[in-house]
Amino acid sequence: MAEARTVYDVVGGMAFFEALVDRFYEGVASDPPLLALYPTPEDLTDARRRLTLFLAQYWGGPTRYEQERGHPRLRLRHAPFPIDADARDRWLRHMRDALDALDPPADVRRAFDAYFAQAAEAMRNREDRPGLAAG
Ligand code: HEM
Repeated sequence: MAEARTVYDVVGGMAFFEALVDRFYEGVASDPPLLALYPTPEDLTDARRRLTLFLAQYWGGPTRYEQERGHPRLRLRHAPFPIDADARDRWLRHMRDALDALDPPADVRRAFDAYFAQAAEAMRNREDRPGLAAG
């Protein structure tokens, strides 16, 4: 009986997510206003590992993220970082650049683009104009 192939399988497994996140963090490291949000900007090794394992798990791979970190609760985990529309857009631009470099199949790319756009907006926790923030 054929089993449904996950996105994780289609893109080639963990190596794809490692390469994607490596590219992504090269972009983050070259973007001072974005890098400033990271708790340890001088060493992104652990951040890299967490994002790699999370994405691999989300797209159907092994559940190592959950084993190491527990339930994702991503919005809560991002609460300490002031993420406004500018930070969201910087984050997304580096992720899209990394996806351009790896060039996954078109249907997978569409799924990634849709997911990252909505997830990055969900992580936004600041209004653009501080004076008008809801609180
Ligand atoms: C598509 C949306 C996003 C996803 C899927 C995502 C995913 C993650 C994951 C899995 C972690 C590690 C959580 C943990 O286990 O502690 C993390 C950490 C972090 N994220 Fe995001 N994130 C997203 C958007 C953003 C955005 C828009 C920003 C800022 C502009 C951001 C900034 C950070 C920072 C500063 C950390 C802490 C780094 C660290 O793990 O040491 N994230 N993110």
